Amino acid sequence: MASIEGLLEGKRICICAGSGGVGKTTTSAAIAAGMAARGLKVAVLTIDPAKRLADSLGMPELGNVERRVEPELFERAGVDPGKGELWAMMLDSKQTFDEVVRKHAPDAQTRDRILSNRIYQQLSNALAGSQEYMAMEKLFEIHAEGRYDLLVLDTPPSRNALDFLDAPKRLTQFIEGRALQVFMRPAGFGMKLFGRGASMMFSVLRRITGVDLIEDLAEFFQAMSGMVDGFRERARRVNELLTDDQTSFLVVCGPQGEPISEAVYFHRKLVEAKMPFGGVIVNKVHFEGELAATAEPEELERQLAQALGDDDLAARVASNFEDFRALGERDRRNVEELAGEMGTEAVIQVPYLDRDVHDLAGLMEVNRYLFASGSDERTRIAASV
Ligand SMILES: Nc1ncnc2c1ncn2[C@@H]1O[C@H](COP(=O)(O)OP(=O)(O)OP(=O)(O)O)[C@@H](O)[C@H]1O
Ligand SMILES: [Mg+2]
Repeated sequence: MASIEGLLEGKRICICAGSGGVGKTTTSAAIAAGMAARGLKVAVLTIDPAKRLADSLGMPELGNVERRVEPELFERAGVDPGKGELWAMMLDSKQTFDEVVRKHAPDAQTRDRILSNRIYQQLSNALAGSQEYMAMEKLFEIHAEGRYDLLVLDTPPSRNALDFLDAPKRLTQFIEGRALQVFMRPAGFGMKLFGRGASMMFSVLRRITGVDLIEDLAEFFQAMSGMVDGFRERARRVNELLTDDQTSFLVVCGPQGEPISEAVYFHRKLVEAKMPFGGVIVNKVHFEGELAATAEPEELERQLAQALGDDDLAARVASNFEDFRALGERDRRNVEELAGEMGTEAVIQVPYLDRDVHDLAGLMEVNRYLFASGSDERTRIAASV
């Protein structure tokens, strides 16, 4: 039976992936805090965390470097982290992209040409997969420095979790792609490859906006061409790190609908890509609880009426409870199916908590489930709150 501690034994990197809004950021922060509370030096690389979560970890002033979460925050949440340390950072993908350019540029002149190029400035934010790729870059860099026992990576809010796996490929394909081949020819030749219509459009644009798109584009691709080898090699090593057996992918999903089918698909792709799958975290589950499993609806209503002394109120509470039980029953079936389709027993369920998770105490509440020894213990905790 799965617990996070068991799943992450001997691992140096944990990547929380899943579709949008399922709880990747919350889970990453909770896992990092939980492992720090168990004495490890842990860094969590979050992306775009909910503002209140960022505030509560002391991250608003954070740039693209890790900062230590104040030990007093642990004390206030009633946790003694011992020797453990929690570090957190908020990824800035533009800054990371700039760092990569600085690292790979063959000389200072090329570096400055790229960084000040208008096309680059737009692309580095908008390029498909760049945020995902930059998350891996940062992970790679911090891992290489070897300062932490464990790195936990939150993944960007992509609509599709698979974007993350494809990111290095797409980015290098783009940079070494056809467009680049055109612009790498001697100056001026690229122009000829555009039809007359396109040339006219560019010259009209230049007159109206004062921006020479062709020149900027040509310069961008020419400058980037010197970096293709560096990029390709780097992407290969990043990929190596992702497939390492000290890395573990945790798939995060919700208990129903699209997030479930996306999680199954993502798991299959992980296996195909030989990436190490650790387990699945089903977040925001409606737990049935022990009472739901035992009492018949009529019996429950009778007991409630007796306790509340109000038949009407008892009927409404019982009906509400019945709805919750139906949700719980549906979630239970979905989770069973999910485990079956993935062929795994490493399934950890976290209930839909009453409050939003936005501070260390909230993360520790999530951790009661993530770090519980198994599903029986989780059900017991859920029934006791
Ligand atoms: N178990 C839970 N119970 C109640 N609320 C939760 C739970 N888990 C997460 N939340 C809340 O749900 C919201 C979304 O969570 P989170 O930001 O972690 O999702 P995400 O997967 O990172 O989203 P995105 O894809 O946008 O990055 C947050 O407001 C968070 O506090
Ligand atoms: Mg998030």
